[in-house]
Amino acid sequence: MSDSIAITSGKGGVGKTTIAVNLSIALKKISSEVYLLDTDLGMANSHVLLGVNPAHSISDVINNKKKISEIIVPSKSGVQLISGGTASNNLLNVENKKRYSILNQIDSHLKDQNDVKLVVDIAAGAEDNALVFAMACDRVVIVIIGEPTSFVDSYALLKAIFSKSSFKNYCVVVNQVQDEDQGKDLFLKFQKITTRFLDVNLHYVGSIKNSPKIRKSIINRIPIVSEEPKSDISQSFLSVAKNIYNTPTNEWGGLTFLSKVKKRA
Ligand SMILES: Nc1ncnc2c1ncn2[C@@H]1O[C@H](COP(=O)(O)OP(=O)(O)O)[C@@H](O)[C@H]1O
Ligand SMILES: [Mg+2]
Repeated sequence: MSDSIAITSGKGGVGKTTIAVNLSIALKKISSEVYLLDTDLGMANSHVLLGVNPAHSISDVINNKKKISEIIVPSKSGVQLISGGTASNNLLNVENKKRYSILNQIDSHLKDQNDVKLVVDIAAGAEDNALVFAMACDRVVIVIIGEPTSFVDSYALLKAIFSKSSFKNYCVVVNQVQDEDQGKDLFLKFQKITTRFLDVNLHYVGSIKNSPKIRKSIINRIPIVSEEPKSDISQSFLSVAKNIYNTPTNEWGGLTFLSKVKKRA
């Protein structure tokens, strides 16, 4: 079964990349091929957390210097990375044509795989890049933390995606919690506010504790799910991965990642 998952958030710094990287490694345990696509163009850092130093990135694809197939790099964890690049040029407002070309190239590259998972690290906020890449995925995961700014910005993001795509289903991960109860409690609060104004279904897929081990793993550039797969924190990433797959997918008429894989299946 092939699937794509967008990891989004209203505001930056809430743990999207940490979750995208560890979730990808967790998915590698249940899927033969996992690709991590970093679309936080110009400010990408998935490669930093994953411990790889890619020579090329999507900015080379945007500038017509490389094809997607030429910039994919393997990582020790087995996850294949498509880096977003750290170019200083402003890639936030890439033309739509270029975005669709990236989507198409990834779709074509993966079309011969039977069982591939694509995890997409999305830029924070509700800019066009974030919306286009999120709506091209089967499932949208929103990462929230227990701060009013995270709630307000996540609501704005949900509203923007919903108004453009009519996606009904959204997975919510609560990051940086003290314990599981706090995660559930914050989810219920966010759900109450959101569903008062938007006709959407929010699915709680779990929480990740605030942990010095995560900070250490970022400094060491070895993701915690690789370094300590049996630890509580790693188990919570595995549980989030499984829960995501128990939620319904979204469908829309626009261009999507993995459409060629699905057409053939
Ligand atoms: N569960 C967590 N426990 C401890 N620190 C965390 C956790 N999640 C994220 N962080 C910290 O927050 C910082 C930002 O995380 P990152 O994944 O880069 O966020 P984003 O991609 O949303 O901007 C990380 O450098 C890390 O130090
Ligand atoms: Mg990030």
